[in-house]
Amino acid sequence: MDIKIAHWTSPSNIALIKYWGKLPNQIPANPSISFTLAHALTNMKVEVVKKQTQLKSISLDFFFEDQLNEKFKLKIEDFLKKQTERFVWLHDYHLTIHSFNTFPHSSGIASSASSMSALALCLCDLDEQLSAKKLSSYEFLSKASEVAREASGSASRSIFPFMASWGSYQEGTSNLWATPILKDSIHPNFHHFCDSIVIVDGAEKAVSSRAGHALMDSHPFKESRYQRARDNITKLKEVLSNGDLNTFMEIVEEEALTLHGLMMTSSPSVLLLKPESIEIIHLIRTFRNDSKVPVCFTIDAGPNIHILYPQSEKEKVHKWMGQYLNKFKILHDEVGNGPENFLTKANIHD
Ligand code: PMV
Repeated sequence: MDIKIAHWTSPSNIALIKYWGKLPNQIPANPSISFTLAHALTNMKVEVVKKQTQLKSISLDFFFEDQLNEKFKLKIEDFLKKQTERFVWLHDYHLTIHSFNTFPHSSGIASSASSMSALALCLCDLDEQLSAKKLSSYEFLSKASEVAREASGSASRSIFPFMASWGSYQEGTSNLWATPILKDSIHPNFHHFCDSIVIVDGAEKAVSSRAGHALMDSHPFKESRYQRARDNITKLKEVLSNGDLNTFMEIVEEEALTLHGLMMTSSPSVLLLKPESIEIIHLIRTFRNDSKVPVCFTIDAGPNIHILYPQSEKEKVHKWMGQYLNKFKILHDEVGNGPENFLTKANIHD
């Protein structure tokens, strides 16, 4: 029997400059930058077996945490149908997909970035196996990032270790796939960052990100927002090379609050922050002012608060969390090394 297997782990990421608003074909209306996380991972295995029939259709079983999952299957099937020009073999093979997340259900961590990047990596890996055509590491990762983007925009950034940017803000930057920000190119202050995610509400998002992005199409502030994001990227790049933690925290918090400000002023208005989210923001700012510890927050499209700080401050921040945030569940993550081929364990980023 003609069987091929691809098996990858791929992480979630947290945006520092937020992608919010898109053009057709999943092109971002503004550029974004993220930290790649270490512990919030999807572990996905895709097995393909040659079909006996000539019928040109997508044939797929999708298991999420060992259970057949029809809802996810339909989503993936839809996506795969759009990928048959790129991966022509999709019509000739039956796919069995097993997917696990290392982070708990209802943790408020969006799983689309980790799962869609893992799927993209598996598809590109299978494509190499079936075509026997080996790409360079750069070509492979750009292609995986492009495929991931087509599934879920922010997933394009999860392909790369440490930090990635996606979207045009200067000549030569790509909208179609993300590009890595190399550790060597940035200041040591940012080499080891932690992200402790305070779970205010673990329920599924009240507004899907597709609907959220669509709110920007007619947003009265959209042009100034897109310009601001481009300016913030330029400022953040400077900060990443000069190590200025204060300006880093200012930009990151402004981006998070802008995202929520845009949602609140959309039509219809969307308010995802909870009273506890605001309470935590105040606590972080008071702690920072009093202790001078460089700790700040960012927020995705939900009520949970990501607390960002250099690893060197971990002890102080954890002690403070133990005192002030002990009524919340907190997931401790940090910046990580990106996806891994589970079968070969090879470092694809060499
Ligand atoms: O990739 P999507 O369509 O789920 O959108 C992600 C949007 C934010 O998480 C709010 C921001 C970002 O850049 O990740």
